[in-house]
Parts: sequence; structure tokens; C-alpha cells
Amino acid sequence: MRVAIIGAGVIDLSTAQSIYEHYHDKISPLNIDVYADVFTPLTTSDGAAGLWQPYLYDKGNIHETKWNKETFDYLLSFLSSPESVTMGIFLQSGYNLCTQHAPEPSFKDIVLGFRELTQRELDMFPGYSLGWFNTVIMPEGKTYLPWLMNWLAKRGVTFHHRKIHSFQELAESGADIVVNCSGVRSGDLQPDPELTPGRGQIIKVDAPWIKHFILTHNFTSGVYSSPYIIPGSRLVTVGGIFQVGNWTEQNNSTDHKGIWERACALEPSLKHARIVEDWTGLRPVRSKVRLERETIQSGPSVTEVIHNYGHGGYGLTIHRGCAEEAARLFGEILQQQAKAKSRL
Ligand SMILES: Cc1cc2nc3c(=O)[nH]c(=O)nc-3n(C[C@H](O)[C@H](O)[C@H](O)COP(=O)(O)OP(=O)(O)OC[C@H]3O[C@@H](n4cnc5c(N)ncnc54)[C@H](O)[C@@H]3O)c2cc1C
Ligand SMILES: *[C@@H]1O[C@H](CO)[C@@H](O)[C@H](O)[C@H]1NC(C)=O
Ligand SMILES: *[C@@H]1O[C@H](CO)[C@@H](O)[C@H](O)[C@H]1NC(C)=O
Ligand SMILES: *[C@@H]1O[C@H](CO)[C@@H](O)[C@H](O)[C@H]1NC(C)=O
Ligand SMILES: *[C@@H]1O[C@H](CO)[C@@H](O)[C@H](O)[C@H]1NC(C)=O
Ligand SMILES: *[C@@H]1O[C@H](CO)[C@@H](O)[C@H](O)[C@H]1NC(C)=O
Repeated sequence: MRVAIIGAGVIDLSTAQSIYEHYHDKISPLNIDVYADVFTPLTTSDGAAGLWQPYLYDKGNIHETKWNKETFDYLLSFLSSPESVTMGIFLQSGYNLCTQHAPEPSFKDIVLGFRELTQRELDMFPGYSLGWFNTVIMPEGKTYLPWLMNWLAKRGVTFHHRKIHSFQELAESGADIVVNCSGVRSGDLQPDPELTPGRGQIIKVDAPWIKHFILTHNFTSGVYSSPYIIPGSRLVTVGGIFQVGNWTEQNNSTDHKGIWERACALEPSLKHARIVEDWTGLRPVRSKVRLERETIQSGPSVTEVIHNYGHGGYGLTIHRGCAEEAARLFGEILQQQAKAKSRL
């Protein structure tokens, strides 16, 4: 059995991991090949701040809420092990702030110690009238991706630095099942009008005195289009850009200025921070994650494809739940193929 995985971001690598965990002792040989034209530390997953937090509301999409929770609980289970350091996961607390009344977010029962802000806390943030405080896990891509790569390499998964132009290309090279997690560029392989970039630009600063994340929510400008400040293990990520439909991967000085002014208004101590670098990335935006099977017939050959893309601004937050669901779909294909064989 040959499995080809397109992509080496957090979604792709964790899907490879879940498939290996569930099936390496059931199928022999199980060959897993990862194909990507960008690897850590250069993927979108590496640039992300690395905060576990979904969008505030799941709009009835209970699958995603479940996958988010599975990811949180999975990461939490590693926190008490020494491995947490090589994985790049740690706990962090902080604030979500709203300018107007808003219902409690869907993640309130997933995170630790969720509560409403007191008036004294709100007084620290002029202009905000409501908010919540809670503790979450930080899965930092720049550490977590190398950990995943290493985990997979040790178990015989092979990595190919190569751009994939079509599914047929992989079928011809002997892949029985293709897992499609190619992030925002998934549309290159098969058009998906629902998939669009959500351009983000962030500023990384040296400000070790900032110990809490501060995320603001402006329901008029939209998700992550208002200032946020997220401390990481070394640097603090400052952002607040989410431009839907914009493919520009260049940093923009107008955006830089806007991010900085708004963030300094929220957290004046940032004025003393040393700016280290800018980074621009494209979030794979979709109305919901596409996680499903498709059988693609091209001529006489049939390829089974598992799609797993469109994780927007919460790929690290949801990755493990989606990887487990993709592994379940993988099992479904195996069962079907076994049944078909026994009928012959
Ligand atoms: C500014 C910013 C901040 C963010 N902060 C957070 C955060 O704090 N928390 C959070 O959960 N999420 C955050 N995100 C979202 C998160 O980064 C994404 O949801 C996540 O990285 C998506 O992972 P992925 O594996 O699908 O894609 P990627 O990491 O983009 O990986 C895609 C992979 O596919 C490969 N690929 C694509 N097409 C092809 C092809 N044709 N051939 C070969 N290889 C191909 C690429 O080379 C790459 O390896 C943030 C995003 C941005 C932009
Ligand atoms: C992967 O998903 C993208 C997004 O729709 C799609 O365009 C592409 O064709 C898919 N690739 C394969 C091999 O199915
Ligand atoms: C919210 O966003 C809108 C539109 O971008 C803007 O006009 C408004 O000033 C913002 N509100 C706050 C409190 O920042
Ligand atoms: C995309 O973003 C860049 C950088 O901010 C900007 O120059 C450009 O005008 C934007 N394009 C669109 C279509 O929004
Ligand atoms: C930055 O973006 C603005 C609009 O958002 C645009 O007018 C300007 O040309 C961009 N600058 C560069 C260098 O792309
Ligand atoms: C954005 O700016 C950083 C430095 O702050 C630089 O390293 C990076 O290459 C820039 N990105 C692009 C696409 O120019």
C-alpha cells in the first residue's frame, strides 16, 4: 500500500502521523510518501503565531468544534511529559476583548478556566466593554513541525521536495491513496471556488515582558482584522490583518504601520519593543474545512483521494482532530477495497 501526501504543513504531517499510528501494524508494507515544494521552517504553519484558538463562533459546525476539542485534549495529554519541550507546546493565558456585547464563544468549555473579565480588568483596556480570560496551549509550528518530521522520518516515512501538478502524476508513480492537504494552493490541483486566501501580515518583536495574549474582536471589520498580541516562546507576534481574496505574499509598509499603531494603542509598552521582522502568510479560507473522500477516475486508473484543507486561521488549533478523521476515512477505503477483493 502506497500513500502519497501532498504538503508538509501541520495538517499534512499530522495526517501522515495519524495514518501511521492507526495502520502501520495492520497493513504491511505501508509506504507513506510526503510530497511538498515548501518544508519547515518556510510553510504557513511555521509563520503562524501558534495559539490554540478557533474563531469565536462555530456557526453550527459541530464537527469543527469537536476536532478543535480533540486537538486541545491531545496536546494537553503531552504537557506532563518531557516531550512537550521538543514538541514546542506550552500553556499560556490571556484576554479576548470585544467592543460590544457578544455571546460566549463556542470554545468556552474546551479551554481551561474560562471566565468573564471583571470590571477592573476591563479598565486596563479602554474602549472594550466585554471580554473573557482563559488558558490555552501554544503549539508553535517552528518547533512542532520539525518534531513531526522527525517522528515520521524515524518510522520510515519519506519526504520528496517537489511540486505536484496533478493527481494523475501521483497515481502513475504508484500511489493507491492520495491525501490532499495542500493548504491555500489546493485549488491549483483541482479548482475549488470556495477556497480563498485570507492574507495575514504580522510583526515579530522582542518584548519578553509581555506574558499574556490579547486578542480583540471587531465584528464590523471581521475576524483578525483588529489588533492582536500573542507572546511565543521567544518573540511576540503582533497582528491584525485578514484580507480575504488577496494573494500578495509581500510585506506591505502601509499594513505594517497600521498594525503597529493599533497594537501600541492597545498595549503602549510595545513602543519599547525591538522589531525583529515582518512576515506575510495566506490563510486557507473556506466556509468550512473540506474533509472528505473522492474517487477520481482517469482512464483505466482509479485514485482514492482524501481531501483535508481549508483550515483558515485555525490550522494548528484543529490539526489533530482533522488528522484522526482523515485516518478514519483511510480505514473506510481499506475496508471497501478488502470487500471488493473478496468478491472477485
Ligand atoms: C498571520 C497568520 C497567523 C496565524 N496564526 C495562527 C494561530 O495562531 N493558530 C492557528 O491555529 N492557526 C494560525 N494560522 C493559520 C494556520 O497557519 C493555517 O491554518 C495552517 O498553517 C494551514 O496548514 P496547512 O498544512 O493546510 O498549510 P501550509 O502550512 O500552508 O502547508 C501547505 C503545504 O502544501 C504544500 N503544497 C501546496 N501545493 C502543493 C503542490 N502543488 N505540490 C507540492 N506541495 C504543495 C506546500 O509546499 C506546504 O508544504 C495563522 C495564519 C496566518 C497567515
Ligand atoms: C486538492 O484540493 C484542492 C482544493 O480543491 C483541489 O483544487 C485539488 O484538485 C485537490 N487535489 C487533488 C489531487 O484532489
Ligand atoms: C471596527 O472596525 C470598523 C471598520 O473597520 C471601524 O470603522 C471601527 O472604528 C472599528 N471599531 C473599533 C472600536 O476599533
Ligand atoms: C493586497 O495586499 C497588498 C499588500 O497590502 C496591497 O498592496 C494590495 O492592494 C492588495 N490587493 C487586493 C486585491 O486587495
Ligand atoms: C501597500 O498596500 C496599499 C494598500 O493597502 C497599497 O496602496 C500600496 O501600494 C502597497 N504598497 C506596496 C509596496 O505594495
Ligand atoms: C518580509 O520582511 C522580512 C523582514 O522583516 C523579510 O525577511 C521577508 O523576506 C519579507 N517577505 C517578503 C515576501 O518580502
